[in-house]
Amino acid sequence: MKIIHISAECYPAAKAGGLADVVGALPKYLNRNGHESSVIIPKYKTDWLNRQKTKTVFKSEGPFGNGKFKFSVEKVLDHELGFSLYLVNIPGKFDREGIYIDPWSGYAFWDEMERFFSFQISALEWIVQQKELPEVVHCHDHHTGLIPFMMSKCFRYDKLHETPSVLTIHNGEYQGRFDLYHYNKLPAFNLEEIGFLDWGGSLNALAAGIKCAWKVTTVSEGYLNELMEFCHGLEILLQHEKEKAVGLINGIDVELWDPATDPYLEKNYTFRNRISGKKKNKEYLCKEFSLELSKPLFSFIGRLVREKGADLLPELIREVRKQGLEMNIMVLGTGEPELHRIFKQLSGKFIGYFDARLEYNERLAHNIYAGSDFLLMPSRVEPCGLNQMYAMRYGTVPVVRATGGLADTVVDISEKGGYGFLFEEFSLDDAMAVVTRAVDFYEKQDKFKENLKLLMKLDFSWDQASINYIEMYEQLNKD
Ligand code: GLC
Repeated sequence: MKIIHISAECYPAAKAGGLADVVGALPKYLNRNGHESSVIIPKYKTDWLNRQKTKTVFKSEGPFGNGKFKFSVEKVLDHELGFSLYLVNIPGKFDREGIYIDPWSGYAFWDEMERFFSFQISALEWIVQQKELPEVVHCHDHHTGLIPFMMSKCFRYDKLHETPSVLTIHNGEYQGRFDLYHYNKLPAFNLEEIGFLDWGGSLNALAAGIKCAWKVTTVSEGYLNELMEFCHGLEILLQHEKEKAVGLINGIDVELWDPATDPYLEKNYTFRNRISGKKKNKEYLCKEFSLELSKPLFSFIGRLVREKGADLLPELIREVRKQGLEMNIMVLGTGEPELHRIFKQLSGKFIGYFDARLEYNERLAHNIYAGSDFLLMPSRVEPCGLNQMYAMRYGTVPVVRATGGLADTVVDISEKGGYGFLFEEFSLDDAMAVVTRAVDFYEKQDKFKENLKLLMKLDFSWDQASINYIEMYEQLNKD
């Protein structure tokens, strides 16, 4: 089958979060299963993209309101990716530093509407004139949420009316809301259909995608159930569309994420030398961050935002020190400026117990998965979560809040076959109780080491997870 993914992110070309990891891996595994899957993203100015050689495959002008804009589509010539990667080059729109956030101001770009509307229009302009049309167009998050609408309603794209579209929700919090009058920037459609764009009086790209896509998926079953209860105003819409919605858990790229070959690690290790291998990586981390090797090391990696529960960490760190619990904590990530300030202050106050690197650092992230004993994910909301899966593959115990994909992938140690730690309520008390349980467990080294075996044998690969997608695509082409 010919499947085209359209997304704002794709690893390694442009990454802000887990969306990039998924779009950079799923197509590769689809191709291995005999399909022809490719990816379209905007041509940003990232380090990786700056280094690539590309070939222009299409040049045209796209409609935008009463005007037009010039764009081209370039194919990346790298053959290592496992799929074809196409870049939409729109002069003046994406050829600047930053993906969503303006690095100079720290805020979202002022022209988000122009950027992502023109990106989506360009992608369709290119697809619609291809000799062999795709059998599925797979969109990801609100940045591509208008594509199912345009494919089914815009006169210009009537050749795509019969092509199935899929929208995957990786994060329902961001919806791409604009003034409704911006509908006139899109290619012409029957105005009676404007209701498909409208949600609560605004043009809502995610809502339009949910209404118009043939299939809506979320990245775990648990998250789909949560969204039907609360999705920042879209819950009723999701309940209404539940017949076409399904939760499909993500996988991880087990080639990229392999402690035996990971080029970023201080020391590579396999299942056989897992104990000594992990120890070497922990030694490295503890030295880098002035932490004591003998204590269990709990790490947090991710965006420092409310959704990920990063604001619970300062309280937790203080409480751990107050109660004198024998454990160390470290944090890697960037996010809310206020949290940066607090973490800096705490790392000065609790030298030897806590440290933070307030940056985006892929290499260090890999080292932390390998060298930590526990990975902390106190998320308020976690659609799927990939970090817990990376951690387990590297033999690190997940300590997570029971929400969304975390609850779907981690089984508490107290249960039969369990291997991680879960806590229910988003509260300091529950978080303290869970880390106390985890520290106790660490002290029973025999059990702790036994659990390592279990963790490293778990299979969260896309080999498994991509099959669900293939079945869904096949079904869509049958219906
Ligand atoms: C988003 C979600 C995360 C998920 C990822 C990939 O970043 O917040 O939970 O794993 O998308 O689907």
